[in-house]
Amino acid sequence: MPEIAKPRILSGMRPTGRLHLGNYVGALQNWIQLQNPYESYHFVADWHMLTTDYASTGELQTDTREMVTDWLAAGLDPSKCTMFVQSRLPEHAELHLLFSMISSLGWLERVPTYKEQLENVKDRDLHTYGFLGYPVLQSADILMYKPYGVPVGEDQVPHVELTREISRRFNHLYQPVFPEPEALLTPSPRLPGTDGRKMSKSYGNAIFLSDPPEVASKKVAGMMTDPARKRRWDKGNPDVCPVFDFHKILSSTEVVERVNRECRTAEIGCVECKKLMAHSVNEFLDPIRERRRAFEQNPNQIWEILEAGTCRARVVAQTTMNEVRSAMNLVHK
Ligand code: TRP
Ligand code: SF4
Repeated sequence: MPEIAKPRILSGMRPTGRLHLGNYVGALQNWIQLQNPYESYHFVADWHMLTTDYASTGELQTDTREMVTDWLAAGLDPSKCTMFVQSRLPEHAELHLLFSMISSLGWLERVPTYKEQLENVKDRDLHTYGFLGYPVLQSADILMYKPYGVPVGEDQVPHVELTREISRRFNHLYQPVFPEPEALLTPSPRLPGTDGRKMSKSYGNAIFLSDPPEVASKKVAGMMTDPARKRRWDKGNPDVCPVFDFHKILSSTEVVERVNRECRTAEIGCVECKKLMAHSVNEFLDPIRERRRAFEQNPNQIWEILEAGTCRARVVAQTTMNEVRSAMNLVHK
């Protein structure tokens, strides 16, 4: 049977080290589901990390290795998708430079994440050339592979929009080289951190994919619940409880229905409800932990997988760059 070419997708993640359940639900799970129907490219966006963390690069290699270990442990399969490291492909830097010539300052200054972070991040100076160019670099990452779609969360949609603008302007000014990729929104149900805020490493409210069972259980036992339910006999409201958000994602329908019923009537107490929760979390994490152990025993394997992926990505990147240079008259005739 002739193989029908699958549509291509591409997405990146900044190397933040070990991933937590929020990263899994918000991105990784989607990547894993898409690796069969699509030709998938996934990369470590280490240059993007530098746009904000340029002053602390000490953990870059460890963070890259730990994050990719989690990708693999969670089920991203190197025989199905191409995994690579952005900084191993200078073609991305070249395309970023060329795109910077045609990216209007107005577009960049209007990107919501830019304004937000400038205002909110106080411990680093983000008034840099590199940080303003963050979405231009992202556009280069994306358009290099001419993908059909880009699986991302809601917050990244403006970056994909800008990518489409740059693509249109390039094609209009020179030659039609690039597609206009779609943002493929991650269907992400709410998974808060243990304190009810957004799960984030920096808030200290995260449950990591690599947490041992005792650690995960302890974090669940300390989770915030419905604040109005102070005593065992108080009736609760699961709709405002982060533990119930977890149940909805990780527990069986039976458990979800039971908690939904018995919390409201005070038949079930929070301690027992959390025990059920810890059980679901650990049942979910067990196979991930097991695969992680196998990779930890041979960390070289991670670099080999990334190297093989980088080689495959390079073939595509070089082809695109030849077209780009020729469209812009950057080659001797
Ligand atoms: N900016 C993305 C994030 O913070 C990471 C990223 C970099 C990316 N380049 C990309 C995502 C290209 C999709 C496509 O999550
Ligand atoms: Fe939350 Fe469960 Fe307690 Fe209800 S019983 S408040 S869902 S922890």
